[in-house]
Amino acid sequence: MTVPFYTSIREYEARKGEFDAAVQGVMGRGDFILGGEVAEFERECADYLGSKYAVGVASGSDALILGADVLGYKDGAEVLTPTFTFFASTSCVARLGGKPVLVDMDEETLNMCLEDAGKKITKKTKGIIPVHLFLQPTPMQGVMDMAKANSLSVLEDAAEGWGMESLVDGTWRKAGTIGAMGIYSFFPTKTLGAYGDAGLMATDDEGLYAKLKSYRVHGSSIKYQHDYIGYNSRLDTMQAAILRVKLKTTKEAIAARAAHAAHYTQRLAGIPGLRIPGVRQDAKPVYYVYNILVPNRDGLAERFKDKGIGYSIYYPKPLHLQKCFAYLGHKEGDFPVAEKVSKEIIALPMYPELKADEVEYICDTIKAFY
Ligand SMILES: Cc1ncc(COP(=O)(O)O)c(C=O)c1O
Repeated sequence: MTVPFYTSIREYEARKGEFDAAVQGVMGRGDFILGGEVAEFERECADYLGSKYAVGVASGSDALILGADVLGYKDGAEVLTPTFTFFASTSCVARLGGKPVLVDMDEETLNMCLEDAGKKITKKTKGIIPVHLFLQPTPMQGVMDMAKANSLSVLEDAAEGWGMESLVDGTWRKAGTIGAMGIYSFFPTKTLGAYGDAGLMATDDEGLYAKLKSYRVHGSSIKYQHDYIGYNSRLDTMQAAILRVKLKTTKEAIAARAAHAAHYTQRLAGIPGLRIPGVRQDAKPVYYVYNILVPNRDGLAERFKDKGIGYSIYYPKPLHLQKCFAYLGHKEGDFPVAEKVSKEIIALPMYPELKADEVEYICDTIKAFY
């Protein structure tokens, strides 16, 4: 048996008619740039997320750059961001001339450690980028309380957080809709994945919304009149059409992921040394990624290769040890939890179309290895 880490083919084959019709519709109309499907998709996303506004952009990475720019994470401003995350969560600040202030992680839940973040706030701190990693959001009550007490803005990196929820002031709210602004990635592997690059930004603030819409088209709201030095970052109409097909069944897709996660958790219980991240009481998880933390991780990865099982390692090197961030002056040992987790973590196949016998095969392989 071979089990891919990710495949779009099973989904495409199951719903080929719908996807083909969506793409052909765009080609038939020829409205390729910010066509009707983009506005419809933005409206549907805002409804699903419970946010006032949504703006489609070219990718999650672009969404972070636009967000960081609009929120002023530049010119020496300090911004708290985790060391254990995807590169773009931090590079967005660095590329604009802001100073990423790296924060260690919580070993149990894999999100940013708010206690460590609190210790790093200075007079220059302007914002915080909580990243909702893998399966559950950063504790947003704590983030919002810290932001309020220190006059920080919050840019939520919900690239991986589609559908996750956080309990804030007694209300369940979707990840990415709680801070000033939230961003999502529709990279193909994501919980809501496009068939190419795509991203989105959500906000309740009318002023930020207007700016974001303008920033994605070179800082212009009226053609050839430029109020800002913006970007060229539009959500592609073809991707919006594909995403609308998938958005219709996003709840079912999330439920299928949860069922696979429960299956893994049940079958992997009791393996000596193997740990499964815990879910907090104030979080409703979405299994974008199913991770385990294990001794001899690289040995297990080799066994997976022999057995035809796909896997991924998110993330093998925390950002404080990346060459491009050497100027921040960190060294090995500065973020002990992130360094430990990066050596133990491994992600197992997780997508709605995964089959129960594939989960069994993966779990049997892990059990036999240990
Ligand atoms: C946490 C996080 N932030 C940002 C991104 C960037 O998104 P994209 O790949 O759409 O540029 C990703 C996805 O790859 C991510 O996982």
